[in-house]
Amino acid sequence: MQNETIYILAIESSCDDTSAAVLKDGKVLSNIVATQKIHEQYGGVVPELASRAHQQNIVPVVHQALAKANIDKKQLSAIAFTRGPGLMGSLLVGTSFAKSLSLGLQIPLIEVNHMQAHILAHFIKEEQTAPPEFPFLAMTISGGHTQIVRVNDHFDMEILGETLDDAVGEAFDKSAKLMGLPYPGGPLIDKYAQTGNPKAFDFPRPKVAGLNFSFSGLKTSILYFLQKQVQQNPDFIAQNRDDICASIQDTIIAILMGKLEKAVEQTGIKTIAIGGGVSANSGIRNSLVQKETEKKWRTYIPKFEYCTDNAAMIGIVGHLKYLKNDFSQQDISAKARYSI
Ligand code: KG4
Ligand code: ZN
Repeated sequence: MQNETIYILAIESSCDDTSAAVLKDGKVLSNIVATQKIHEQYGGVVPELASRAHQQNIVPVVHQALAKANIDKKQLSAIAFTRGPGLMGSLLVGTSFAKSLSLGLQIPLIEVNHMQAHILAHFIKEEQTAPPEFPFLAMTISGGHTQIVRVNDHFDMEILGETLDDAVGEAFDKSAKLMGLPYPGGPLIDKYAQTGNPKAFDFPRPKVAGLNFSFSGLKTSILYFLQKQVQQNPDFIAQNRDDICASIQDTIIAILMGKLEKAVEQTGIKTIAIGGGVSANSGIRNSLVQKETEKKWRTYIPKFEYCTDNAAMIGIVGHLKYLKNDFSQQDISAKARYSI
């Protein structure tokens, strides 16, 4: 077992991306992601359409991942899959596929918690990058999640705070929708914010105790603000697009960084790792870099392809669990609500 090469095939299907990856000893050989375009016209993910698309995508995506890695499925050591949290119909596709393949190939099955995977994505083996040292604080920010987690070890994690309503990605996307921007609007807000004035408009910051977040009030205040302005000037949004985007982004960053600072104060931990699709935001990245000099934090942001939903992050958890002989049985089922 000691000198064995470990090949993990990983499958992710928790939301609207169907993804498969092959990892060799913790290094990514392939990471294929089929993003479902169908949801754009609805302004958000439609669960039933997501599971149908997973069903169509999963076989070609797995084939592509194996082909790109240039390995035969007989070489695989184990199959890792996302058990949850996520949309039940979507999770079922990946779970059933992984179970059947593990049975067919007679190799171990490894269940993975999607939220742990976003954090452990930092441990994907890469040239020239070292993973964060334990203990560290992980902030997972995406369209489905917003959490601050204390990470003591690979599988010893404690949630310090999380959102009580919308995820931060939803705050970006819903604000963008109010401005008439297409889904997902997060990257567009980021783009237009670059040429806008972040202090042009003032949006209230929610008062939430401890390290928890709330974003639904922000969305409502943006709605009322825009309604009022458009009544006075029907072209208000078009004329002020960049300033509105910059002001929304500035407020969201202030909320996130405020809670991170509080978490650092409370724990004394200055090593910060972020993950999730919203980590792509240039304003958030800049604020973190600033904290490195200002507050002597050590910050880690994975490659973008490992920030958004992807199977490589599921694969690294599979690899770490394989090393511990932590395998699942065939009677395992998907879990829509699944805490780390
Ligand atoms: O991790 P992810 O791909 O999927 C989920 O698990 O949700 O994250 C997608 C979210 C969307 O809400 C999208 O608008 C947001 O990440 N996002 C961004 C940026 N890029 C992606 N939000 C703000 N700025 C960006 N540059
Ligand atoms: Zn995710």
